[in-house]
Amino acid sequence: MGKIGIFYGPAKGNVAKVATIIAQQLGEDSTDLMPIKGCDASVLDSYNRLIFGISTLGRNNWDSEHEDDDWDVFFTHLKEVNWKDKQVAIFGLGDQINYPDHFVDAIGWLHQRLKDLNVDVFGQVADDGYQYNDSEGLIDGEFMGLPLDEDNEPEKSHERIRNWLNELKQEGF
Ligand SMILES: Cc1cc2nc3c(=O)[nH]c(=O)nc-3n(C[C@H](O)[C@H](O)[C@H](O)COP(=O)(O)O)c2cc1C
Repeated sequence: MGKIGIFYGPAKGNVAKVATIIAQQLGEDSTDLMPIKGCDASVLDSYNRLIFGISTLGRNNWDSEHEDDDWDVFFTHLKEVNWKDKQVAIFGLGDQINYPDHFVDAIGWLHQRLKDLNVDVFGQVADDGYQYNDSEGLIDGEFMGLPLDEDNEPEKSHERIRNWLNELKQEGF
């Protein structure tokens, strides 16, 4: 099996930190770790298994064409990727205490864009153990990717990641 490509944005901060932990847990020989910034479709085309990391920094940033939002910039390339036979999983950074009504919304935004392109997204997560009011990352009570909260529960990230990677394996990712 080929390597797993882990693509994350922003390039610095909690998403980057967690992307490194995921790469370590999967094994550095079987993963490539890259900021999404500067990637084009051809880079993604060389992987069959991709993990996307994103943080939620507010609806305004996402919808506007802010050039400093790494995922916003990449969206123009999403439709150029050859998604046939590709598997994708998403993890998302958020903050349950300060943004309880919009916890990890960006998981949902990225998921929706991938579903629009008929991409298979793996690794849904039950919302047990999270404290929040609402999230656009949910469908039928499940998160469409792994939520992580480095602001309030950094001590839980390693185990959440371990469980999620095991689940991905069982799903055939
Ligand atoms: C301006 C701003 C807006 C944010 N909005 C949200 C939000 O709507 N929902 C959420 O769950 N977290 C929100 N957060 C928290 C971040 O997602 C969280 O701190 C995350 O760990 C940041 O990761 P990064 O440093 O890799 O971007 C926001 C943070 C900032 C600074």
